[in-house]
Amino acid sequence: MAWHNKKYNEINLTLAEKVSKGLFTNAYIFNDYVVLQSNCIVKECLAIFNHSNNRHIPKIKRLYNDWYIMPKYTPLKASNKKAYTQYKFMLELLEKYYTRLYGTIFDKKYYNYDVCCAFADELKKYDRSLGNAFQSILDTACNGTNFLCLDFAKGNFSVDGKGVLILRDILADCNKTGYNRNKISRKKYKTIIEAIEDNM
Ligand SMILES: Nc1ncnc2c1ncn2[C@@H]1O[C@H](COP(=O)(O)OP(=O)(O)O)[C@@H](O)[C@H]1O
Ligand SMILES: [Mg+2]
Repeated sequence: MAWHNKKYNEINLTLAEKVSKGLFTNAYIFNDYVVLQSNCIVKECLAIFNHSNNRHIPKIKRLYNDWYIMPKYTPLKASNKKAYTQYKFMLELLEKYYTRLYGTIFDKKYYNYDVCCAFADELKKYDRSLGNAFQSILDTACNGTNFLCLDFAKGNFSVDGKGVLILRDILADCNKTGYNRNKISRKKYKTIIEAIEDNM
């Protein structure tokens, strides 16, 4: 069954192949889809507002409350030649862009909407599709927060089955604290409802 047709009550979390944790997210990784419990406002906004067909934008659908489902993406590696080059290019462009504008790079990683848009415009000059994707994620995320923070760490980029670079988790709300739980168990909860009822 296609990932986007799955219902929350049909998913058995104990069958996940792997579990993975970010600051805001617990991810249950299955063969070709991923179930996430996340309090990341950007994911929520993407699931609700973003229906773009741009190939670089991650696909995500809300299952129930703060539970989401996505296709499984693969971590970005240097062997993904084209995607890796695009990723490196974005990193360098960001640094160049700030150095040119402000004489320095900005370590705080706090960027307001206008500054992010200006970077999106810069990116569009070189890679229209990637720049449009960044702009679209930005426009979506600012429905939920004014405190955007760019995170171009490699782990937040992925590739899809065709090797296309996915801007999977490149924006966050820097004023929000994640769940940051150290417990994540796939043995304990069989269903999403069980987890919700246990206040997970
Ligand atoms: N669509 C996905 N495909 C494969 N792994 C994923 C996917 N989404 C999340 N993950 C895994 O879950 C981890 C945390 O997800 P991420 O979106 O980066 O969360 P956070 O918002 O907490 O940073 C990632 O490092 C990755 O291992
Ligand atoms: Mg992340």
